Amino acid sequence: MARGALDWIGAELEALDAKGLRRSLEPIGPAQGPVVTVGGRALVNLCSNDYLGLAADPRVRAAAADAAARFGAGSGAARLVAGDLPPHGALEARLAAWKGREAALLFGSGYHANAGVPGALVGRDDAVFSDVLNHASIVDGCLLSRAELVRYRHCDVDELAGLLARTRARRKLVVTDAIFSMDGDAAPLRELAELCDRHGAMLYVDEAHAAGVLGPGGAGLAEALGVQDRVDVHMGTLGKALGAFGAYVAGERRLVELLLSRARPFVFSTALPPPACAAALAALEVVATEPSRRTRLFALCARMQAGLARLGFDVARVASPIFPVVLGSEARALAAAAALRERGWFVRAIRPPTVPRGTSRLRVALSAAHDEAQVDGFLAALAEVLPGLPPPEAGRPG
Ligand SMILES: Cc1ncc(COP(=O)(O)O)c(C=O)c1O
Repeated sequence: MARGALDWIGAELEALDAKGLRRSLEPIGPAQGPVVTVGGRALVNLCSNDYLGLAADPRVRAAAADAAARFGAGSGAARLVAGDLPPHGALEARLAAWKGREAALLFGSGYHANAGVPGALVGRDDAVFSDVLNHASIVDGCLLSRAELVRYRHCDVDELAGLLARTRARRKLVVTDAIFSMDGDAAPLRELAELCDRHGAMLYVDEAHAAGVLGPGGAGLAEALGVQDRVDVHMGTLGKALGAFGAYVAGERRLVELLLSRARPFVFSTALPPPACAAALAALEVVATEPSRRTRLFALCARMQAGLARLGFDVARVASPIFPVVLGSEARALAAAAALRERGWFVRAIRPPTVPRGTSRLRVALSAAHDEAQVDGFLAALAEVLPGLPPPEAGRPG
């Protein structure tokens, strides 16, 4: 029975509908993969973050099943209480070695890590400097920290230099996505590291879309650029290229010791389930032993990048399997997603507040499990769909 106190929600949902901003679930089956069943139809999936095709890999699944049998389905408590099971320590040791850091600490998800780690490092007398296109979880973590939040223009090292030079904050934290989740471009980590060195600021890098994908060992953008030692806080997720679930922070042991006592999502939340840890461990083994997956992924990416550029999209800065097909208005992005779906392609419209107003888009993401024919087929379908989209709205970028 609906209660009167919630009556305002009807109008709110209608307003979201009217603006093209209402979201809805889209159940897929039978499992994550390059082709999924949506609404009873098999569609090529171009919107997952399963960049290496590991979410449904038989070895990763088997590791999860085995861990469930040995250690249970859930952890039953926070790590600091009675939830610290063998897969947790084993995965942290493996993550620390992979990242070339002294230690690592697991978090329930990337959102958890970003929401809680800034607050363990900075507070009221401090300042946190955040790229304007950083993921929403970083923004939330910065706000929760109560430090002054200073947002700098996307990848604008010069602006950041000026802001760092002027601040009077006690501690300074610079935080950035490594690969920006909706644009696929890479942060200028070397330049950021230099600025942080010069100004005594801490550097926090979220490798959610780079871990498993970039670098000779797949450890991420910092590894690819050879700046691992200059990043203070290496954050990454286990639910994207690693096909599992959860997140980690890696760094100096004293950092991990502090987070263990101070990061509220670590202290006050149930430990990751053992099957998720075991799945991530198995995925790390694949990342280490099958670099050909990354080579294959980037061959597909080069094909997609060239094709989208031919269609007139600005993808020159893309350095990852994420391609922004920016269409402008919400209506255009929704119409494009619907028309592509009719033709067998599953790619969702990304709208504000996930992306800035006027830049609604399709976010096309590739996986090593896709093939060339799928990339070519998508490009052909997109070319067919574009002329039929609603015109860009007057006064708004198209
Ligand atoms: C850059 C970035 N950081 C963090 C997250 C959150 O990670 P999780 O999905 O593990 O909560 C995401 C998720 O989409 C992301 O894109």
